[in-house]
Amino acid sequence: MSKSSRLPGFYKLSLEERAAVIAELAGLTASEKAILMGQGLSPAQADQMIENVVGIHALPLGIAVNFLINGQDYLIPMAIEEPSVVAGASFTAQLVREGGGFTTSSDEPVMIGQIQVLDVADPQAARSELLAQKSRLLQLADQTDPLIVSLGGGARDLTVRIIEDSTVGPMVVAHLLFDCRDAMGANTVNTACEALAPEVENITGGRVVLRILSNLADQRLARAKCSIPPDVLAFQAFAGQTVAKRIVEAYALAANDPYRAATHNKGIMNGIDAVAIATGQDWRALEAGAHAYAARSGRYTSLSHWSVDAAGNLTGTLELPLAVGIVGGASRVHPTAKVALKILGVKTAQELAEVIAAVGLAQNLAALRALATEGIQRGHMQLHARQVAIAAGATGDLVETIAGRLVAEQKIRLDRAQELVQERLDIGY
Ligand code: MEV
Repeated sequence: MSKSSRLPGFYKLSLEERAAVIAELAGLTASEKAILMGQGLSPAQADQMIENVVGIHALPLGIAVNFLINGQDYLIPMAIEEPSVVAGASFTAQLVREGGGFTTSSDEPVMIGQIQVLDVADPQAARSELLAQKSRLLQLADQTDPLIVSLGGGARDLTVRIIEDSTVGPMVVAHLLFDCRDAMGANTVNTACEALAPEVENITGGRVVLRILSNLADQRLARAKCSIPPDVLAFQAFAGQTVAKRIVEAYALAANDPYRAATHNKGIMNGIDAVAIATGQDWRALEAGAHAYAARSGRYTSLSHWSVDAAGNLTGTLELPLAVGIVGGASRVHPTAKVALKILGVKTAQELAEVIAAVGLAQNLAALRALATEGIQRGHMQLHARQVAIAAGATGDLVETIAGRLVAEQKIRLDRAQELVQERLDIGY
């Protein structure tokens, strides 16, 4: 995006005004804008995507603003039902912006496909023989997807692991490393593994069972980093240095305790999943990869790290597998996902992965900042009150009015909201 994503007061605009601003900034056509406003996936299109379709399930699509990543501005589409997430990401993106923005990096888009071989008489000899025939096997894998090869992707390596003992005996597990370029790559890798299986059986003398990608895509990591000057973190009665210190203290629990790490990482995934869903990614694959990566040492821990550097800046880093694509799959079929990708303006799957990592880090910071200071309930409950008001039947302006009353009375409950809606209806509001 050539213009700034810094949009003060964006949240105060009406829905239509916000859509107009984004359409202008992202250069959306009238029909793309109509997709945002509800003319997205049709029942007929949905019927082509999965089985037994009976309708469409919609989610709110918000835009997180203020993101500056590697010196470039991004508007971040996020599809999510949970209040506070989009506001939190936008808010902390602004804090990070004041420290120069996010810096990111990523590995080449290499996926791992697993071929499981049982009934192997001599696993060590089978391993040696597979490695000896590596280049022939990689050539065979390349033949399964000439298009990806022509685009610079293709088979990169073959590694072989031995699982000495299991309930079904020893196993040889071959890993095919395949560069999927701008595709998420599940189909590509699965096809290649299936094609290699008969040859792997010939070489090892064993019996292949599984031929499937691994969602622990640890050859395809994305990283984000940020550094925030302490004065930017000052909040209410909390000095900036105090906020930074408390964030590091809060992080320390996640680093050392799986009960907290699960919640801490859930906060990171709030941001990651929301962008993934908006852009049509397989977010279950991202979830699986993230949590497996968080447990890679044998102990489940935080995906992010927070510390204060010598100059007093709060520094955060996040690294995780992010197998995402911008060609194939729902990212190119779902009308709203296509518009979301256009708004984001990413040119490669690697760029998308890096942006998503930055959003995950921003989301983590939003949660930690709130938790380490005033707690999340005050801000959260105000937004929650709106949902309670809607659930009680409020519409239009009445939603804010009822939500305001619920918060003021500190009774954010459906029964009270229903009473208030009824009172308004009785007086002909
Ligand atoms: C809520 O969806 C996410 C948080 O619980 C994350 C966290 O505790 O770090 C607020």
